[in-house]
Amino acid sequence: MIEVGALSKRYGNFTAVKELSFTVRPGEVLGLVGPNGAGKTSTLRCLAGIIPASSGTVRIAGHDIAADPIAAKRALAFFPDEPRLFDYLTVRQHLTFVARIYGVAHHEAIAQPLLDEFEIADKADQLPGELSRGMKQKLAIACGLLHAPQVMFFDEPLTGLDPLGIRRMKKSIVTRARAGATIVLSSHLLHLLEEVCTHVMILKRGEKIADGTIAEVATRFSNGEPNVNLEEIFIRATGGTES
Ligand SMILES: Nc1ncnc2c1ncn2[C@@H]1O[C@H](COP(=O)(O)OP(=O)(O)OP(=O)(O)O)[C@@H](O)[C@H]1O
Ligand SMILES: [Mg+2]
Repeated sequence: MIEVGALSKRYGNFTAVKELSFTVRPGEVLGLVGPNGAGKTSTLRCLAGIIPASSGTVRIAGHDIAADPIAAKRALAFFPDEPRLFDYLTVRQHLTFVARIYGVAHHEAIAQPLLDEFEIADKADQLPGELSRGMKQKLAIACGLLHAPQVMFFDEPLTGLDPLGIRRMKKSIVTRARAGATIVLSSHLLHLLEEVCTHVMILKRGEKIADGTIAEVATRFSNGEPNVNLEEIFIRATGGTES
């Protein structure tokens, strides 16, 4: 469960995220959409406790991210748009290292299926410098899933993956949501969000323009037309591509 109340993020005098309030329940996948600069990454970073919010509250699985960050962070995983890895640790050593940080017992039994799921088992003894971009992303995701987080934040999870990788990534996200995880992801790939998300939130200049199920948001912007897709909703809601 993610509970957000009046979350704002300012950088100096500039307000990147304004008074966002929403709840995401176990089993739900919320898609954050909005033009470049709308505040998606800033929101995700505040939710995951990577940067402090300027005001407002964030509770992750019941733990306040500001007051009880360790408990909140034990329950979550954040996957940034650019994977950050350790240059001198192999793929397998990354998983061992992360398992120790999170106190995951018997991690080998969890790590191997993750290596298989993300198709990097044959690279287990290689360094990040020897991996492709998509493989690095898959390793970062495998590391983040090792402690079985209840809450997951993905910033542009599909960027850089090949078509099969995108399909597998979508399956991984949906499978974890069905198993009870609470997931928020940002993406510009709207047709893919339609397949994965139960809910969407449209941001523009840091403000929530609309949120709800895709059907609810579609109804709001459809002007009575049937079958309006998310791309058309996005364009109508944000009034073009400028933020
Ligand atoms: N560290 C920072 N310092 C100052 N301004 C920042 C900082 N990070 C982001 N911003 C500004 O905050 C606004 C929101 O940026 P953010 O990265 O959250 O947008 P986004 O919705 O993720 O965009 P994109 O679709 O391009 O990834 C932008 O105007 C950006 O310039
Ligand atoms: Mg971003």
